[in-house]
Amino acid sequence: MIELVYISKANKRFTTAEVQAMLRTFRQKNHATEVTGLLLYDGYGTFVQALEGDSEVLTTLYAKIKLDERHTRVNLLGETPISKRSFPDWRMGYKNLDLSSAIEIEGYSDFLEHNDRTDYLAQKPNFAMDLLEHFKHNSKSNLDED
Ligand SMILES: Cc1cc2nc3c(=O)[nH]c(=O)nc-3n(C[C@H](O)[C@H](O)[C@H](O)COP(=O)(O)O)c2cc1C
Repeated sequence: MIELVYISKANKRFTTAEVQAMLRTFRQKNHATEVTGLLLYDGYGTFVQALEGDSEVLTTLYAKIKLDERHTRVNLLGETPISKRSFPDWRMGYKNLDLSSAIEIEGYSDFLEHNDRTDYLAQKPNFAMDLLEHFKHNSKSNLDED
């Protein structure tokens, strides 16, 4: 199994309802292919996604994701072999990152204040990894329900 992490820039400002509608489709597919993971969206235009699963399955999926016209500047931050899933319960967990989440990670308010958050994450990939790491613990209680 591998874990693959990327960041990208949404091609429009998706509403939470639009992202949730997209997630319904992703989850059906992920269920069939045993893909798990977490999608973070800043409510404005930046995605961070961790995908876990079989290496061949993820290579195919990531190739599709890169071509997806709903986003651009898809930037791979890491591809790591794993023996255990970090998000076993989520066919794709979801968290909207905004001020009200009051996430206690160093640099979180700097990130939110930045006018190009995708660029900020591209320059600070470790911060993107910290964000994901934050939700690996108690992910059930931390994530948005839908
Ligand atoms: C931000 C983002 C995240 C995505 N995440 C997933 C995902 O977790 N699983 C999935 O199957 N497709 C995901 N997609 C959709 C894929 O890009 C693609 O549309 C889908 O896999 C098409 O599958 P099909 O060609 O088999 O119908 C995502 C797209 C975007 C823009």
